[in-house]
Amino acid sequence: MTIPTPHISAKSKDEIANTVLMPGDPLRAKYIAENFLEDVKQFTQTRGMYGYTGYYKGKRVSVMGSGMGIPSSMIYFNELFNFYDVDTIIRIGSAGSMQENIKLHDIVLATSACSESSINDNLFGNIHFSPTPDFNLLLEAYKKSQDLGYTTHCGQVHSSDQFYNDMDPKVFENLQKYGVLCVEMESYGLFTVARKYGKKALGVFTISDSLVSNESDSAENRQSAYTQMMTLALEVAPE
Ligand code: ADE
Repeated sequence: MTIPTPHISAKSKDEIANTVLMPGDPLRAKYIAENFLEDVKQFTQTRGMYGYTGYYKGKRVSVMGSGMGIPSSMIYFNELFNFYDVDTIIRIGSAGSMQENIKLHDIVLATSACSESSINDNLFGNIHFSPTPDFNLLLEAYKKSQDLGYTTHCGQVHSSDQFYNDMDPKVFENLQKYGVLCVEMESYGLFTVARKYGKKALGVFTISDSLVSNESDSAENRQSAYTQMMTLALEVAPE
């Protein structure tokens, strides 16, 4: 395939930095570009999925929306890694806590992702592949989060195929018991595609709601909590 790809309109690989930060929401990508980056250029808006490249403390970095869910976001992960030669994708997103001790606005770093998605079924036969992020990037993000004084948890995340999930309570209980920290919707796809191309990936989350306490974020608190996640991702983004 040549570039531009069907879903990203950048005409040259040079328009996109080696590392791309990817929130689900394209308007959050715009917000990050406008508030955290300097000398910003937009490289895509195909299907309203905005992407920008700019500089964070002199470091060149891109930010682009991924959309919601594994099948849609995997289109962007594939095109960025395979056709635009991107080295690293850092997913930054919201997640629902599944553990009592993981509170609203805490940070979660994914060490692996599980899913009910069947997207890898034709790749590994009867083996249930465990998609994982890049260890060195994860380690660096953990250390940086400690330096910044953030409340951070590391562990497995559930990449759900459904936001409105009528999950059997017994299944939820087992996921909790076996230490799954939170639910989001894309990391299983991201970590798989990164491995496919020998590239790097990381998942950084802000807890926006709790499936344990049934609380959810208030709009006024959301921005400062999200700022921690964005700062962490920008600080550790490899150039
Ligand atoms: N992202 C944030 N909260 C979520 C939830 N409860 N389920 C799936 N994805 C989420």
